[in-house]
Amino acid sequence: MASTATTATRELKYDGFSILLHWLTALLVAALWLLGQSLSFFPKGAPRLSALGVHMLLGMLVGAVILVRIVWRSSGGRHLPAADEGVLNLVAKGAHYGLYLLLVLTVGFGVARAWVHGVPVFDWFKFHRPGFATPSIIHTISELHSDLADILVIVAGLHAAAALMHHYVMHDSVLRRMLPRKRSE
Ligand code: HEM
Repeated sequence: MASTATTATRELKYDGFSILLHWLTALLVAALWLLGQSLSFFPKGAPRLSALGVHMLLGMLVGAVILVRIVWRSSGGRHLPAADEGVLNLVAKGAHYGLYLLLVLTVGFGVARAWVHGVPVFDWFKFHRPGFATPSIIHTISELHSDLADILVIVAGLHAAAALMHHYVMHDSVLRRMLPRKRSE
């Protein structure tokens, strides 16, 4: 039978599936941003198209992960009490909802960017460039995808900095509750 201390620790953790989805999202966003920034370093032609293919597949994977996360959060996922109070709580909530919104928009404009450019995803399928894709529409959509990705990474960085501050400055359990369980817990 679990001891009282073990039970208390368990109650302060997110469930395993939420933790997995959280770190998978973080890893994919970091990889996507870095790959997006490095695309122009790949030689033109097949190498760059392959790198872009990987970028688009990972981008669509992160889109699927976000959808699963939203469904899980509003159904079986564990909800924990707010980590902050007052204004800080509002800022943290705003950052969390903002991150969901930025993720959805970045992925949405990524797909739109691939569509208006008519890009192939390896030999598997091709986005067919629509008739309305004028140079100015292509430019606007490309800029939006790029700017949203940058804002997403900045907000995610602030979110990570806040978690590290909780851990190293305030010495509370906010970061630990999103970390995988140790065997002893
Ligand atoms: C969270 C998800 C994503 C992030 C963080 C991200 C990030 C980036 C970044 C940083 C760039 C380079 C921007 C620039 O310098 O212009 C880029 C380019 C691009 N991304 Fe994404 N992206 C994501 C999802 C997607 C998705 C889902 C697709 C399409 C299925 C996609 C398609 C593209 C395309 C077509 C380019 C332009 C490549 C080029 O023409 O050089 N992205 N992305």
